[in-house]
Amino acid sequence: MSTVLIITMAFVLMFSHQASAGGILQIPSKDSLAHCIQSCGDIDISYPFGVGSDCFRQGFQLTCNYSTKHHPSKLFLGSSSSSAIQITRMEVDPSGAYLATPIIFHLATRPGSTNNTYNMSWKALAEGITIGSDNTLFVAGCDFDVTLLEYGTGDIIGSCTSRCAGKKVPNGGPCNGIGCCLIPFSRDLPGFRAKLVSTNTTATQSDWLHPGIMGIVTRDGSYYMNNATDIVSSWKDARNIGDAMLIVSIMDQPSCESAQMHNASYACSSGSSCQDSSSAGTGYHCYCSSYGLYDNNPYILDGCPQQDYNPKPNERCHTSSSCGTITVPFPFGIEEGCFANERFRLNCTSGNLTIVASQLVQYNVTNRWKMGH
Ligand SMILES: *[C@@H]1O[C@H](CO)[C@@H](O)[C@H](O)[C@H]1NC(C)=O
Ligand SMILES: *[C@@H]1O[C@H](CO)[C@@H](O)[C@H](O)[C@H]1NC(C)=O
Ligand SMILES: *[C@@H]1O[C@H](CO)[C@@H](O)[C@H](O)[C@H]1NC(C)=O
Ligand SMILES: *[C@@H]1O[C@H](CO)[C@@H](O)[C@H](O)[C@H]1NC(C)=O
Ligand SMILES: *[C@@H]1O[C@H](CO)[C@@H](O)[C@H](O)[C@H]1NC(C)=O
Ligand SMILES: *[C@@H]1O[C@H](CO)[C@@H](O)[C@H](O)[C@H]1NC(C)=O
Ligand SMILES: *[C@@H]1O[C@H](CO)[C@@H](O)[C@H](O)[C@H]1NC(C)=O
Ligand SMILES: *[C@@H]1O[C@H](CO)[C@@H](O)[C@H](O)[C@H]1NC(C)=O
Ligand SMILES: *[C@@H]1O[C@H](CO)[C@@H](O)[C@H](O)[C@H]1NC(C)=O
Repeated sequence: MSTVLIITMAFVLMFSHQASAGGILQIPSKDSLAHCIQSCGDIDISYPFGVGSDCFRQGFQLTCNYSTKHHPSKLFLGSSSSSAIQITRMEVDPSGAYLATPIIFHLATRPGSTNNTYNMSWKALAEGITIGSDNTLFVAGCDFDVTLLEYGTGDIIGSCTSRCAGKKVPNGGPCNGIGCCLIPFSRDLPGFRAKLVSTNTTATQSDWLHPGIMGIVTRDGSYYMNNATDIVSSWKDARNIGDAMLIVSIMDQPSCESAQMHNASYACSSGSSCQDSSSAGTGYHCYCSSYGLYDNNPYILDGCPQQDYNPKPNERCHTSSSCGTITVPFPFGIEEGCFANERFRLNCTSGNLTIVASQLVQYNVTNRWKMGH
C-alpha cells in the first residue's frame, strides 16, 4: 500500500482586534516609529506594516523570527511565527501595499487508477488580503486537467491541461501544455481552489525526478510562460522563483468615503489621497499624489511632501518670460522663484520648452496659441 498524500493548504490567519493588540489606528509620526525595527533579515519593513507594539497599524502586524547562527531571520504575517504566510518582500508605494509570499504545492497522485481528483487551495482568512490579478498559477507534471476557481464563490477563473504523450516532463522550453500549463488569475481574489484531475497516474509516478504534480503561484508569469526551466527545477528547490504577490487593504472601514467620516482612524495622512480597493466595500489604501519620490509614505504624518503653491512670482521675474518665440506666462516659469511650484517649472533649451518635473515623461511645449496669427 503506497502512501496517499493530498496536500491542501488552507491558511488561517487570526486578525481579531485582540490578536492585534499593540496595533495603532491614529497616524504616527516618523519620530514615534523611530524605536521600531527597520528590517528583518534582508527585508525592509515599512509602516503600516511593523513588528512590536506601537509599530504597526491594526491588521498589519508582522512577526520576525530572528536568526539563529545557522538560519537567516524570517518574517511572517500575523502575531506569531507559526503563521503560514511567510513574507519575502514588501512594497508600500503609490498604488498600494503589497506582500510577497511563497505559495507552492506538491501533490502525490494515487497509483493505479485514472481520473483521480485533487485540490490545491489557498485562502487568507483575514479580510483585506487578496491575491493580486497579476499572479499566475503554474502546474507542472504529466497528464492532468486543472480548473482554477475563486475560493468561496466557486466562480471559474480558468483552466488548462498538460499531456506528456508517454514522455517525461521536459526540463526547459515554454509552459505550453506539455508537462506544464498555466492559468493567469486575471482579477484580485480572496483565495483560490484549483481542482486537478489526473488522467494517467502511471505517467506521474514513473518520472522519479518529478514525482506527482507540482503547483506554484508567481507574479512573474509572463517570464516563466516562455521559459519554464525554473518552474520545473523548483520541484526540488523553489528559491529562484518569484513569489506570489498579495494586496493588503486598510479594512477598518469599507471605503474611502466612510473612512473620511471617521477621521480619528482614517489611515491617509494629510497630503495623501485615498483609493477604494478593486472590489467595492473591501477597504481602501492611501497614496501620495505627488510625482516621483518612492520613499514617500502616505500612512505617516508628513509622509507625502506638500505641494507648496507660490501664488506670486519673485519681483525679479517678469510676469511672463519667453523662450525663443514662446511666451511663458505665470504660473509657468523657467528660472528659480519664477514658477508657482516644481510642476510648473519649464526648461528652455535652444528655443524649445520642456517640463522639468517629470523624469519619466517628457512633454514638449509648443506655440499652439500663436497658430491663428
Ligand atoms: C522561530 O523559528 C524556529 C524554527 O522554525 C522555531 O523553532 C521557533 O519556535 C520560532 N520562534 C518563535 C518565537 O516563534
Ligand atoms: C477520464 O476523463 C477523461 C477526460 O475527461 C474521459 O474522456 C475519460 O472517459 C475518463 N475516464 C474514466 C475512467 O472516467
Ligand atoms: C476538494 O475541495 C472541495 C471543496 O472544498 C471538496 O468538496 C472536495 O471533496 C475536495 N476534493 C478532494 C479530492 O479533496
Ligand atoms: C500513461 O503514461 C504512461 C507512462 O508515461 C504511458 O506509457 C502511457 O502511454 C500513458 N497512457 C495514456 C493513455 O496516455
Ligand atoms: C531559461 O531559463 C534558464 C534558467 O533561468 C536559463 O539558464 C536559460 O538560459 C533560459 N533559456 C532561454 C532560452 O532563455
Ligand atoms: C476630525 O474632525 C473633527 C471635526 O471636523 C476635527 O475637529 C478634528 O480635528 C479632526 N481630527 C483629525 C485627527 O483630523
Ligand atoms: C534643461 O535641459 C538640458 C538639455 O536637455 C539639460 O542639460 C538641463 O540639465 C536641463 N535643466 C534642468 C534644470 O533640468
Ligand atoms: C527645437 O525644436 C525644433 C522644432 O521642433 C527642432 O528643429 C530643433 O532641433 C529643436 N532644438 C533642439 C535643441 O532640440
Ligand atoms: C521633444 O523634443 C526633444 C528635443 O527637442 C526631442 O528629442 C523629442 O523627440 C521631442 N519629443 C516629442 C514627443 O516630440
